[in-house]
Amino acid sequence: MKPLPVVIPPLLSFDNLRVARGGRAVLDGITADIPRGAITAIIGLNGSGKSTLLRTLLGEFPHSGRIVYRCGHDHSKPSPEHVGYVPQRLNFESHLPMTVRDLLGLSLNRGRPLMFGFRRNLQAKMLKILRSVDAADILDVPVEGLSGGQLQRVLLALALEPQPELLLLDEPASGIDFKDELDFYRMIAHIVRDTGVTVLLVSHDLATVQEFAQQVLCLNGGRIQAVGSPQEILTPENIRRLFGPQRMVLGR
Ligand SMILES: Nc1ncnc2c1ncn2[C@@H]1O[C@H](COP(=O)(O)OP(=O)(O)O)[C@@H](O)[C@H]1O
Ligand SMILES: [Mg+2]
Repeated sequence: MKPLPVVIPPLLSFDNLRVARGGRAVLDGITADIPRGAITAIIGLNGSGKSTLLRTLLGEFPHSGRIVYRCGHDHSKPSPEHVGYVPQRLNFESHLPMTVRDLLGLSLNRGRPLMFGFRRNLQAKMLKILRSVDAADILDVPVEGLSGGQLQRVLLALALEPQPELLLLDEPASGIDFKDELDFYRMIAHIVRDTGVTVLLVSHDLATVQEFAQQVLCLNGGRIQAVGSPQEILTPENIRRLFGPQRMVLGR
């Protein structure tokens, strides 16, 4: 007998979500549950609405339909203890004339005028959050000298401080080489296990999705084409329908 699928209670649900950009519907009737404490991967061709879905959760776009959180907090104005976000790397300006210490200091010093200097316990905090992403050795490295993988770790560390309930990762491994990419996803999986954070992850790497995600959501032209476990969704037929005949294998 096949084991019954384990149903994880959702942290949030989309109910007939619609978002228009430039006068055109780019998300159209999205209805799905996002399981708590698990990784949901969003896959789909460029322009299918993946980034728009994440950014709608940040409150960037007006929507119709509902986003229902099951955690009891008011998410109508998302704050960092609710939602952490790592944007697509290409959108991040990495040529900053500052070190990782400066960048973390400025970010963690929120709400305190710079003329008062950094808070005293900040050094310990910076090391703690860098340690949580296995990167304590890069505190004094200039931001523009970081590898793609190191930069993503710093951005991830910032998204995890304070510890959010929901972590949004938009193609976090684009621009990272293969070995760093695997390490990066392994670290995400550890963080999910250790903290119970719920992750929504956009990725083009189907092998990674198969290995690390518990749920896969396929977007096609702003609509959900399929949603389910990686085993159910990443079939050759679904992949062909989603990406066309040239993308039939899962291999990296
Ligand atoms: N700045 C914009 N203004 C108007 N429409 C946009 C803008 N950016 C994206 N879109 C539209 O939204 C659709 C979804 O974009 P996006 O969410 O970035 O897709 P993905 O992340 O899947 O590549 C695109 O096909 C495009 O038509
Ligand atoms: Mg995108």
